[in-house]
Amino acid sequence: MAKLEILTYPNPVLREVSKPVTEFKSELKKFTDDMLETMYESKGIGLAAIQVGKPIQLLVVDTRQKDEDGRRYKYDEMTELEQSIVQPLILINPEIIKGYGKTTFDEGCLSLPSFYETVERFDKIDVKAKDATGREIKFTVDGLLAICIQHEMDHLSGTLFIDHLSFLKSNKIKNQIKKSGYPDKNNKDDDDDDSGSARSRKKSKESIKS
Ligand code: CO
Repeated sequence: MAKLEILTYPNPVLREVSKPVTEFKSELKKFTDDMLETMYESKGIGLAAIQVGKPIQLLVVDTRQKDEDGRRYKYDEMTELEQSIVQPLILINPEIIKGYGKTTFDEGCLSLPSFYETVERFDKIDVKAKDATGREIKFTVDGLLAICIQHEMDHLSGTLFIDHLSFLKSNKIKNQIKKSGYPDKNNKDDDDDDSGSARSRKKSKESIKS
């Protein structure tokens, strides 16, 4: 496995529309493994293929928490539906068949490191996709997993979470990045900084980048 480079805004590749996967060969399995490694090493909970420069409709997700030994486990705050889904989840050519209700969450993105903003999503979704072997899967999920899947699916159409913000807010972030770049990368794993402490967040920042 290999850790891949994650593209960051304003790299124009992130705006590309990803194409459906048509062949399920061993290369796809290897690429999926590399995506998972990249996501875990970057302490993200989700990653879309376009974020590593491949415009195909593939995403990986794992919203479970990690114990001291690095083992992933399902935690109490996970909804029943979320707990019923086997993770890591690999979704290929995903479609949201139906969305229910609304929820908001402070989202982050590995392609926009250190920025977190509240985004509105469906509370619950019916999803249809293919797994890494090309088999069709269908499920209903809510909770953080549903939010994360919607965030990743946005990437497949070239959309970033900042596009869901008000014009003013979104422009402020875009201009700040274009002008000053991202905050010091040496501190990117330091989740105890106070930049977002005013916001209520159930989990530490590192667990919600995707
Ligand atoms: Co993202």
